Amino acid sequence: MPSYLITGASRGIGLEFVRQLSKYPSNRVFALVRNKHTAPQLLALSTQHPNVRVLQADVVDYASLKAAAAEVASATGGTLDYLINNAALIDQERHMLALDGYPEGQEALLEEDIHKHIQVNVIGVIHTINAFLPLVRAGSTKKVISISSGLGDHASTVVSGYAFSAPYSISKAALNLAVAKYAAQYKDEGVLFAAISPGLVNTAQKPPSPEELEVFAQMVERFKVAAPGWDGRPLEPEQSVKMVLAVIDRLTIKDTGAFLSHHGNKEWL
Ligand SMILES: NC(=O)c1ccc[n+]([C@@H]2O[C@H](COP(=O)([O-])OP(=O)(O)OC[C@H]3O[C@@H](n4cnc5c(N)ncnc54)[C@H](OP(=O)(O)O)[C@@H]3O)[C@@H](O)[C@H]2O)c1
Repeated sequence: MPSYLITGASRGIGLEFVRQLSKYPSNRVFALVRNKHTAPQLLALSTQHPNVRVLQADVVDYASLKAAAAEVASATGGTLDYLINNAALIDQERHMLALDGYPEGQEALLEEDIHKHIQVNVIGVIHTINAFLPLVRAGSTKKVISISSGLGDHASTVVSGYAFSAPYSISKAALNLAVAKYAAQYKDEGVLFAAISPGLVNTAQKPPSPEELEVFAQMVERFKVAAPGWDGRPLEPEQSVKMVLAVIDRLTIKDTGAFLSHHGNKEWL
């Protein structure tokens, strides 16, 4: 009975992981959310699928993660097979400002944007791994997957010329190195750590405004410079998660520390 814990399961890609994994009654799926009351789709899914259990924790609150880990341990007898760190902050408020594009006098805002992405996307993942690692080490599959982003890839950043979304991108690059550090520590023990980008995925909760469409078109133009064969269309969560799960399945301890795309390579789109 493989067990999975997915963070950020209230919506988007995290909710889709729960949807796909819960289809197999032999899987036990622990779905972690900040607030059950703002996750109606997940709650509906958990009433249809008895193998889904919804837990509450904030990834920036270590005590809440430890409490969630204790709940998982008491349900599984102290083990967890797969930890999927999917929760992230993707703040788009100023994402079209380059690092030197904040108006003079607004340096505090730049600092705040960098801090808050690092807090959730790096420190939050590290806290989550530390809280659940004893269970993963006692599990039989021993896979810790952190959902990263192609925006955290150095080479494609330079080739595409995409200078925006910098605080988020910096946080994902730092996450990739945190994953490598865990891999360095736990390779000999057979615990696999990997960072996987899900591609560009449509997780919008409402139709985009004309301004958002304009910004998206500019981003697509940049991305096409790095990926000329790409059709410019985002994936739906269903397709992305299917591909990411296939990559997770193929990973062995030889791949530990890798940063891969949903294709299982360095093609980010
Ligand atoms: N969508 C894309 O194109 C894309 C591309 C590359 C990488 N990614 C990565 O894929 C993952 C999922 O993306 P998405 O598009 O599905 O994101 P999303 O729709 O914005 O959902 C983010 C999820 O993270 C949760 N979350 C945020 N802060 C949290 C915290 N402090 N503690 C616990 N949960 C928290 C949110 O919970 P609430 O509902 O409570 O806010 C939500 O469930 C992320 O790691 C993202 O960086 C996405």
